[in-house]
Amino acid sequence: MPFKLELDARPRRNRKNETIRAMVRETSIGPQHFIYPLFIHAGEGDIPIDAMPGQRRLSPKGLLEEVGAARKDGVNAIVLFPAEPESHKTKGAEEAYNDEGLVQVSIRRLKDAYPDLVIATDVALDPYSADGHDGLVAPDGRILNDETVEILCKQAVSQARAGADIISPSDMMDGRVGAIREALDEEGFSEVSILSYTAKYASSYYGPFREALDSAPKAGDKKTYQMDPANVREALREAELDEDEGADMLMVKPAGPYLDVIRALRDHSTLPIAAYQVSGEYAMIKAAAERGWLDESKTAVEALQAIRRAGADLILTYYARQVLAWL
Ligand code: PBG
Repeated sequence: MPFKLELDARPRRNRKNETIRAMVRETSIGPQHFIYPLFIHAGEGDIPIDAMPGQRRLSPKGLLEEVGAARKDGVNAIVLFPAEPESHKTKGAEEAYNDEGLVQVSIRRLKDAYPDLVIATDVALDPYSADGHDGLVAPDGRILNDETVEILCKQAVSQARAGADIISPSDMMDGRVGAIREALDEEGFSEVSILSYTAKYASSYYGPFREALDSAPKAGDKKTYQMDPANVREALREAELDEDEGADMLMVKPAGPYLDVIRALRDHSTLPIAAYQVSGEYAMIKAAAERGWLDESKTAVEALQAIRRAGADLILTYYARQVLAWL
């Protein structure tokens, strides 16, 4: 007698073919979910970033071209990261709020060329800091919270004045979301949004990014302001504070290794949740694909699907353009 299973429940029926699988699929990824991070510099030519194959430091001309091409692939939103020369890096990070700075000028050029492009900006001092920290550093090495927040407010207002749609504080200083909200409102930018890096971890996955921008801390690490990778309750506390202080969207960063944190914030908050698939997550897939160890497009799509499934509404990803072209 051949073995016969007596089953009422056969979940495999819903996986029978791709049409049915598509009908029962619970999460989607599409252009509306992506923010595309771009590295910019003021010099000539586009400079490849070793640890992030496919990503470059874009010249002013290269930036317009890349955004034009990305628009065609379906990218609607970008976030800018400047690579600044040593001469712009000071103790006080004054270049951060220079209205004629690289980020500010780039926003204006992009808005002229692509008026409906959504532009987000990063608020933190590291690209402009002689110390390579997100905050001001005291002579004894401490990161000065309240003094830093004052500068972050100036930086945010300068970016808003240039035309930024979304201000993203990534510095992890206490109280910065409320202070930035107040500063923006006072200057007449009540329509500019704040996407707060709510749960930004002190992560080793940022390595390639710091190489891309030459922005690694000169001394110490970022553990007195970025979160301990061991914690999740602390992320909820940060989320409550950011919400009270007026954040419009919350972010978890990195994304892939922190899916539980994304889920926790999703369940806890009514605000949209973003997740940042960071440079190291991108580099790992690229490196394995280059060796033929992973199928790049399938792995990248799966990683992004997992981030959406965990509860992210939005994903900041270096794969935005490539994945939209593949889909
Ligand atoms: C800086 C900043 C970092 C990233 C985004 N904004 C690096 C850091 O905190 O050291 C990392 C992004 C990535 O790794 O892709 N405030």
